[in-house]
Amino acid sequence: MDLGIKGKVALVTAASRGLGFAVAERLSREGASVSICGRSRERIDSAAEAIIKKTGGEVTAFEADVTDHLAVKEMVQEIKKKFGSLNIVVCNAGGPPPGMHHDFSIEDYRAALELNLLSTINLCYEALPFMKERRWGRIVAITSVAAKQPLDNLILSNTARAGVLGFIKTLSNQVASLGITANCVCPGYTKTERVEELAKKFVTDGKGSEEDFYDTLIAAIPAGRVGTPDEFAKTVAFLVSEGAGYINGVALQIDGGFYRGII
Ligand SMILES: NC(=O)c1ccc[n+]([C@@H]2O[C@H](COP(=O)([O-])OP(=O)(O)OC[C@H]3O[C@@H](n4cnc5c(N)ncnc54)[C@H](OP(=O)(O)O)[C@@H]3O)[C@@H](O)[C@H]2O)c1
Repeated sequence: MDLGIKGKVALVTAASRGLGFAVAERLSREGASVSICGRSRERIDSAAEAIIKKTGGEVTAFEADVTDHLAVKEMVQEIKKKFGSLNIVVCNAGGPPPGMHHDFSIEDYRAALELNLLSTINLCYEALPFMKERRWGRIVAITSVAAKQPLDNLILSNTARAGVLGFIKTLSNQVASLGITANCVCPGYTKTERVEELAKKFVTDGKGSEEDFYDTLIAAIPAGRVGTPDEFAKTVAFLVSEGAGYINGVALQIDGGFYRGII
């Protein structure tokens, strides 16, 4: 299926590895000119090289922390200067630390809101003028299934990501008539480097084997497995496609059925 995004200009933030990397690679395979960013020049350059090697596409790497609003502004301006526009934005960031309410101060909440909520709002504000100019745009915010079904030991994430759902839904109502869609995706457990690191830590902490770690996760997943970054990326690629122009304001779980609600 042709997604109709050949030649579109895309930005995927927090993409030196994991879900962001997989999405950037997929969009590059589909023929988009992809820009990516991360906090380390070395890591983001090697991610860009890896994507170019796999897809032969055009990939531009930026060293930018998504919580640095000025750096994000400059990156978006640079993309506009180089490619003439910005059509697709995938908002991603790292996750805040795990813990219960008594583990955190108000400053920890402020940092989590900067990382996951305000970074998304800022990026949308920077990108929207270019999308409005062309009367075409696709925004996808990567959140978490915890935004819909809060997980006890992830109070920072639950709080910040629910805000993203509220922001993106409201924004989607306000830009739809301009040919712009805004949606959220809510990943469940997906086997990225981060999850592999958690599995290793589980072993070194003496809690059991890697198999035990995955068994614990899988117990709550009807699909009986964790997801792959590639299947996550293919779903996001569909949401930013030409054909998904009438999908607007949704928060789509990509979680093997982990979320137990019906809406
Ligand atoms: N994988 C899952 O099972 C899962 C499930 C639910 C939700 N999520 C959420 O989905 C997002 C991606 O997950 P992942 O598993 O791909 O995580 P990951 O493997 O830890 O990758 C995170 C990426 O974000 C970049 N990054 C982190 N903080 C950044 C910042 N402030 N500015 C710019 N880049 C930043 C990192 O690169 P640098 O270190 O080079 O900056 C890295 O490329 C996270 O928010 C995570 O909490 C993941």
